[in-house]
Order: sequence, then C-alpha cells, then structure tokens
Amino acid sequence: MLLEVKNLNAGYGYLQILRDVSLNIDKGEYVCIVGPNGAGKSTTMKTIAGLLSPMGGTVMFNGEDITGLPASVIAKKGIAFVSEEMNLFVNMSVQENLYMGAYTIKEKKVQNERLEFVYDLFPRLAERKKQLAGTMSGGERKMLAIGRGMMSDPSLMLVDEPSFGLAPQLTNNVFQSLDVLIENGVTILLVEQNVTKTLSVTGRGYVLENGKIGLEGKSDDLADDSYVRKVFLGV
Ligand SMILES: Nc1ncnc2c1ncn2[C@@H]1O[C@H](COP(=O)(O)OP(=O)(O)O)[C@@H](O)[C@H]1O
Ligand SMILES: [Mg+2]
Repeated sequence: MLLEVKNLNAGYGYLQILRDVSLNIDKGEYVCIVGPNGAGKSTTMKTIAGLLSPMGGTVMFNGEDITGLPASVIAKKGIAFVSEEMNLFVNMSVQENLYMGAYTIKEKKVQNERLEFVYDLFPRLAERKKQLAGTMSGGERKMLAIGRGMMSDPSLMLVDEPSFGLAPQLTNNVFQSLDVLIENGVTILLVEQNVTKTLSVTGRGYVLENGKIGLEGKSDDLADDSYVRKVFLGV
C-alpha cells in the first residue's frame, strides 16, 4: 500500500471537519474523492500533505508513519500537492516556477533532468518557458502547477480541483495532463467537482460528505450508484 489513511480527524482550531476518514491507495492507482462543496476534500488533502496537523488518526506512506510531519518533510518523501490555489509565482517565468518545484532536490544536474522530463510530458510548457506565469491561460497555469508538482519526482500526486474555473475544452486538457502522469507510473489522488468526468477516468473513488466517507468503490460502480446519481449527477 502506498498511502494508508486511518481514522483521520482534522479541522481548524476547535472546529473538527474530518471524522474518521480512512482511505487506501496502491502504487499506480488513480483514485478520486468526490463530494459537495465544504465536505472536507481539501482539508483531507492538506492534512495528508502536512499543511494541517491532524487531531487524530494516522497517515502511512510507503509503510512509514508520516502523521503530523511538516509539509516540507512530507514533500521530500515523495508526496506532491497541487492545491486549488496553485500558488504560482505570477511574476516569474514558467521555467523559474518549475525550478521552484524542485526545491527538495539538491543537485542542479538532477533538477535539470527533471525539467527535461516535465518538458517532455508537457511540450506546451517548453514552448512557453520564458513566459511569465501570470500571463498564461487558465488551462496552461493548471498544467504548469501540475508540471511543477512533477519536478520533485513524486510517487504520489494530490491534485485538488484541477478543472475549477476552466472552460470544458481546457478541462479536457487538464485531464489529459493527468492521464500522461498515470501513464508514467505516478499515483494520483484527485479531488474534483466534475463528478461525471472524474468517475469516468479514475479507477476507484471515495464519496466524502460532512467530513465522513459515505461510500467507496470502483468508479464505474459509483457512477451507477442511485444515491450518487441523485445527489451528484442530478439524475
Ligand atoms: N482555514 C480554514 N479555517 C476555518 N475553516 C475552514 C478553513 N478551511 C476550510 N474550512 C472549513 O472546512 C470545511 C471543509 O472545507 P474544505 O475541506 O475546503 O471543503 P471542500 O474542499 O470539500 O469543498 C468547510 O466548512 C470550510 O468552511
Ligand atoms: Mg476544496
């Protein structure tokens, strides 16, 4: 098991959001968390990534207990987090932003190898390497954020709502970017509001509501589930 989250409780100050969230991801899997706004999807990702200290429960990564470790340490261990906000440096070039994603790697030579790898994955970024990140289109910025996450050579990518705010065509481009990662052996935990699309590309999924996992299963089965269809797909 690559990631094993057990009975995770987390929140903000005294406000508890996550209640006994448990989920597992095997190496190479493409797994999603779907659920309504405010369900705790981002909170789950932030807690796994170490940006938020859990109130209880455990997070095991590669068989190692990483519960409560600082985000920088967790990043070094191979978990990359592409947040909703993306936090790109808008006044820096595409290439400079990519190098920021390699801060866990000491040797310049290895950083450059990673850069070439990311440019191979996303040729669009190579074409735009000198362009300021702030002048890229919405879809290109998402691709840049995903590419920057790949710079650290992660074994697990946490990707939070990559299609948020994008037109359908750009949404497809972002999903294609994630397909490229899966083909390259990266394991992905994806959070999305686009439930139909997400369940059609991922292998397994968890439904999070009010901080609790209500349902889990193969994405195909979830897409056919009457509750999921009624609540999330409006059918
Ligand atoms: N920094 C914060 N401080 C206090 N409450 C927060 C903070 N971030 C999120 N929340 C609350 O936690 C709940 C879950 O939020 P979030 O995990 O972002 O949901 P989702 O990503 O599923 O839409 C929401 O009620 C939200 O208002
Ligand atoms: Mg969110």
